[in-house]
Amino acid sequence: MSKVTVVGAGNVGATCANVLVTTQVADEVVLLDIKEGVSEGKAMDIMQTANILGLETRLCGVTNDYTKTEGSDVVVITSGIPRKPGMTREELIGVNAGIVKSVTENVLKHSPNAVIVCVSNPMDTMTYLIHKISGLPKNKIIGMGGALDSARFKYFLSHALGDVNAKEVEGIVIGGHGDTTMIPLTRFAAYRGIPASEFISAEKLAAVAADTMVGGATLTKLLGTSAWYAPGAATAQVVGAVLHNEKKLIPCSALLEGEYGESDLCIGVPCVLGKNGIEKIVEFKLNDEEKALFHKSAEAVHKTNAALASAL
Ligand code: NAI
Ligand code: 2OP
Repeated sequence: MSKVTVVGAGNVGATCANVLVTTQVADEVVLLDIKEGVSEGKAMDIMQTANILGLETRLCGVTNDYTKTEGSDVVVITSGIPRKPGMTREELIGVNAGIVKSVTENVLKHSPNAVIVCVSNPMDTMTYLIHKISGLPKNKIIGMGGALDSARFKYFLSHALGDVNAKEVEGIVIGGHGDTTMIPLTRFAAYRGIPASEFISAEKLAAVAADTMVGGATLTKLLGTSAWYAPGAATAQVVGAVLHNEKKLIPCSALLEGEYGESDLCIGVPCVLGKNGIEKIVEFKLNDEEKALFHKSAEAVHKTNAALASAL
């Protein structure tokens, strides 16, 4: 029996729960929110959909009752406030740090062996906060950002390549999950293994990278709040890779201890995900330009982490 808890039944949390049910990734999913009735209502709506679709995964919604989350294999944290147009992810730290801290403490009382997937923003800093307060081994804490940013990269790339099938496009984003800190690795962007630079100009490739970096902000401007469909699906993809021991390589925010020349922060790097969470951080040689960008990104994440002390 596999069990997943999703904390926060807002846009991202409820979408993640919906994808977990519709793809039948887990046997049991618990959706928890602090707002009375919201989780129960969304769970009921999703389970009525499951009935129509003939699905087996069971979802239950609860209001702040952590006893129902007991024994979860994976816990997703999406609780917190989202961006509004014009806001950066970093500006959310004051409110979200307090929420993520109390949620983590409650979660661990009932699921001390769970793998935790952090979604709440500023995600790299919230993931680092969970490391600091949970005492969990570092492989058990995963920050979700690179899965989403890479999906956005592939989306823009498939269009630039002439609306080709996005499944045949390769793209990976590392670095911080921020508009100016993420690093779409254009050097490795490919179409069926052939470098994208064989098909489109350097300028076009740079434009794809730029669109990717502001991908979240573009959606926030259009929607009035941050996006949820792809964030929820990307989170469910990370959960599935852990629950099913898939050994998939997905860029995630991981605690670095010297990898890529950085330490004492969580930042996006290629990770192999399996039943133990982050089973391996895959290191490969960055060129000088990529190294400089990664170092700059790490500096920005360190700076946001430094604001944690006053936020709590
Ligand atoms: P939302 O406002 O729709 O949902 C947040 C939910 O958290 C609300 O239902 C709220 O009642 C709940 N909540 C607040 N405090 C809580 C507590 N102490 N315990 C349980 N639930 C609590 O926001 P949305 O759009 O779902 O975004 C959630 C978070 O995810 C935001 O911080 C957002 O910036 C972040 N995000 C991160 C992404 C990533 O790639 N890492 C992508 C998209 C969003
Ligand atoms: C996103 O990338 C704001 O992190 C959120 O959509």
